[in-house]
Amino acid sequence: MKIDNNIESHLIEKRVFKPSKDFAKRAQIKSLDQYRRMYRESISRPDKFWGREAKELTWQKQWKKVVEWKVPFAKWFVGGKLNLSENCLDRHLASPRRNKAAILWEGEPGDRRTLTYQQLHHEVCRFANVLKRNKIDKGDRVIIYLPTIPEAAIAMLACARIGAVHSVVFGGFSADAIRDRIADSGAIAVITADGSYRRGAIVPLKKNVDDGLHGKTSIKRVIVFRRAGNDIHMEEGRDVWWHRELEYVDANCPPAALDSEHPLYILYTSGSTGKPKGILHTTGGYLVGIYSTMKYVFDVRDEDIFWCTADVGWVTGHSYVVYGPLANGATTLMYEGAPNWPEPDRFWRIIEDYRVNILYTAPTAIRAFIRWGDEWVAKHDLSSLRLLGTVGEPINPEAWIWYHKKIGGGRCPIVDTWWQTETGAILITPLPGAIPTKPGSATLPFFGVDATIVDEKGHEVGANVGGKLIIRRPWPSMLRTIYGDKERYKKQYWSEFKGNYLTGDGARRDEDGYFWIVGRIDDVLNVAGHRLGTSEIESALVSHARVAEAAVVGRPDDLKGQSVVAFVTLKSGVEPSFTLKRELRDHVGAHIGAIAKPDEVRFAEVLPKTRSGKIMRRLLKEIASGARVTGDTTTLEDFSVLTKLRDSEE
Ligand code: PRX
Repeated sequence: MKIDNNIESHLIEKRVFKPSKDFAKRAQIKSLDQYRRMYRESISRPDKFWGREAKELTWQKQWKKVVEWKVPFAKWFVGGKLNLSENCLDRHLASPRRNKAAILWEGEPGDRRTLTYQQLHHEVCRFANVLKRNKIDKGDRVIIYLPTIPEAAIAMLACARIGAVHSVVFGGFSADAIRDRIADSGAIAVITADGSYRRGAIVPLKKNVDDGLHGKTSIKRVIVFRRAGNDIHMEEGRDVWWHRELEYVDANCPPAALDSEHPLYILYTSGSTGKPKGILHTTGGYLVGIYSTMKYVFDVRDEDIFWCTADVGWVTGHSYVVYGPLANGATTLMYEGAPNWPEPDRFWRIIEDYRVNILYTAPTAIRAFIRWGDEWVAKHDLSSLRLLGTVGEPINPEAWIWYHKKIGGGRCPIVDTWWQTETGAILITPLPGAIPTKPGSATLPFFGVDATIVDEKGHEVGANVGGKLIIRRPWPSMLRTIYGDKERYKKQYWSEFKGNYLTGDGARRDEDGYFWIVGRIDDVLNVAGHRLGTSEIESALVSHARVAEAAVVGRPDDLKGQSVVAFVTLKSGVEPSFTLKRELRDHVGAHIGAIAKPDEVRFAEVLPKTRSGKIMRRLLKEIASGARVTGDTTTLEDFSVLTKLRDSEE
């Protein structure tokens, strides 16, 4: 595969922001020297380093071996037994933390709830007993299709408490996405709500579940939380109400003693080919990974209010809305709705009202805030903030500077954290009291992370040369496999450079060793910080009765990072029309979810192919972004196709 040219031409950003003395003084890691010392130890003596981290947590049985690595399968804390919910809840009940807020929650309509650690523990135990009552056992897979409400965290923690494996499906996905995930995971239960709120409207979650369960299904039970009060159908014998179930249980539910490698969750994410991959995370290593990154990267303190704005349906929501903050005994804030509802200052209002100290959000949101205008920010007192973070895509230096000045008041360090669904926890990131930041760079690897950049042949490249980002050794929170598909796991991540983890991202490292992530080098799009496989959108398009063929590419987009452009050829006799374009967009929306809807659909007579029949995406990308087609076209089967494609825009 050819490495994208833009890896080479990335802007050279010269500004450097050193951690302030005040921040560094109180931080977990206080200097670059201290970071380097600990990093060296984490690489030369990983057992010692990770063993020490793990010892800060609660184990029902001590592990025998820190890591066992049989390429490409890793086991961490081998022989140890523990429970993640015990670490997130029970562990804090013996200290004054028991009466502090674990979750502060605000619904989109403005309703509010606070759950202390003690209360959250109580609710999780009760709901874990509801799961047991409904014949959900250790190892069973459970789909969670809920909005970002406390019940999402309660459901996840309750699964973890009894050893059931949860698979959260993002509330913006549609019935087909639910159906596919149920089929792949063999789940036996769904936990959902009647509806959720989004920009003032009600999203019919339960209806989507009903649609996803039509026909043959492995689902035996649907537990429904009443959130929006909308009318729903309850299937006799299959569906039960959450609140009614609670009437039958008590709050006595000891945490199951689970093997360190017991599966914790499956989270589906897009890959470059075929159907979404079920990324499997397990218990011990994942806990240690999110615990340590939360502690060192977000430098979280007992008195902090931490707000990660991600939806619980994404890995960021798993690791840094729920598990990371709670494992550290922090207060996590959850917000259900849209950032611009009822007005574009909702985030700033929340920060002012709750006195949020740490804000973790996505570059795409930051770019939207810039567009909405500074006056929305200026209306609010954001002086409680002390640290800012970003995740999901490269942040452009201008957005970084705006975030730093307007939101951080020039005083808050920014941690630009690089990681993936597969990595479970942050892998490349500044440590806010130690590592000077450069706008647009995720800076240096976290402890234990042996990251580098290689060329096509797997040779390490020099400073400022673009290449593929790989990780050369296992880390605790890494994925263990693709659920049900070991071969795909091996092939996808570990075969191109044997024994090294292929991230799928292009990057370069500058003369200070700082990583600059450029973006995906495979056929995966990053739209508003969310991963979408071009092939998934293509198969949704060709499932439409009038479509013959489709090719989907990304186009640079000021706001969303990338937007989705679909080139579509129609079956013979079908006339292109504006209505059909709209129909195709809605078709993709219904199959995958609104985030995957193409921003632009272009009808073409033919698609550019090589003589061997492979679609030349590079050409389509150039055409989609309005650029002149450059580079090699000699393998193109039919040259006239280029002119036709250029004219395809109406
Ligand atoms: O391309 C990288 C980009 O997001 C991809 C991972 O997407 P996902 O699994 O959905 O997880 C997103 C949240 C962890 C990566 O392969 N990405 C993530 N963080 C950054 C980033 N690109 C640049 N800078 C980042 N900080």
